[in-house]
Amino acid sequence: METIVELKNVTKVIKGRTIIDNISFQVNKGEVFGFLGPNGAGKTTTIRMIVGLMGITSGDITIGGASIKTQFEDAVGHVGAIVENPEMYKFLTGYQNLVHYARMSKGITKEKITETIELVGLTERINDKVKTYSLGMRQRLGLAQCLLHDPAVLILDEPTNGLDPAGIREIRDYVRLLAREKNMAVIVSSHLLSEMEMMCDRIGIIQNGRLIDVQHMKEFVHNTEVTYELEVVPSESALSLIKTNYPNVRANLSRNGISVELPKEEIPNLVKTFVANEIQIFGIKEVAKTLEDRFLEVTAEKGAAQHG
Ligand SMILES: Nc1ncnc2c1ncn2[C@@H]1O[C@H](COP(=O)(O)OP(=O)(O)OP(=O)(O)O)[C@@H](O)[C@H]1O
Ligand SMILES: [Mg+2]
Repeated sequence: METIVELKNVTKVIKGRTIIDNISFQVNKGEVFGFLGPNGAGKTTTIRMIVGLMGITSGDITIGGASIKTQFEDAVGHVGAIVENPEMYKFLTGYQNLVHYARMSKGITKEKITETIELVGLTERINDKVKTYSLGMRQRLGLAQCLLHDPAVLILDEPTNGLDPAGIREIRDYVRLLAREKNMAVIVSSHLLSEMEMMCDRIGIIQNGRLIDVQHMKEFVHNTEVTYELEVVPSESALSLIKTNYPNVRANLSRNGISVELPKEEIPNLVKTFVANEIQIFGIKEVAKTLEDRFLEVTAEKGAAQHG
């Protein structure tokens, strides 16, 4: 795996306040890296530093081996990014916007523009004025803009904000496609774990300006115990069965029946036990832990580790 972006001890202090505190991580080619954290954690600030919109107080960022401090143009030349709202001329068509944008970089051909429009699925509407576009279409045009110069790294700050489920899915599919087929490194930020889960290979968890963990998405999900909502009758007897068979498992009565934290492998056995004891099963629903829960877990683990 080839590293394309590297943050080394990056710190940002604004007016005496440490907003980003000594963050280091690497992103490889062909990988989707998710930057996950609650509002105000420092995602946008970190991204602004990576794309060169904001200076670094200390540490360094290299992109394609070039330092953002000493080889700025070289470094940011590798990057395509949407941070906050992409610049667009609403009274021009999507196509005119792209042509305008293409003039800012060297060597972008007409074919490249057409190919990019197709990639983001805007072919049919590209000659309409941007002011007639929906939010999702504007997002796609923004994506096209930053893909024109074939960046090695694509950076999207909360790309699915405000999109409907279909729009979210589209962005997710493009992101995966770009990583897989163009070997692009993609950095996306979000405060939604569920969204990151489907899009990312790895995630970095940021909280209060600190990177508290970097994990492979699969491991992160694997380590997250899920809660099951069991719609069973009678729920009291079902609960005592669970307590007898799984004394160490957290289980309690909930609105619709029982809420229990169990590894998935145990579900078939539990069902057998219920059936053998004439418990009626109306439904078993997997309820993923909220990001908040997982955060509390991870921070508690890290906190405990730090305090010995
Ligand atoms: N220019 C600035 N001046 C002062 N404080 C700032 C500035 N930019 C960001 N901050 C502060 O830095 C912290 C991190 O902000 P940032 O926008 O990076 O968070 P975020 O993770 O992107 O949050 P959100 O999910 O809400 O977008 C916040 O407390 C914010 O108020
Ligand atoms: Mg932000």
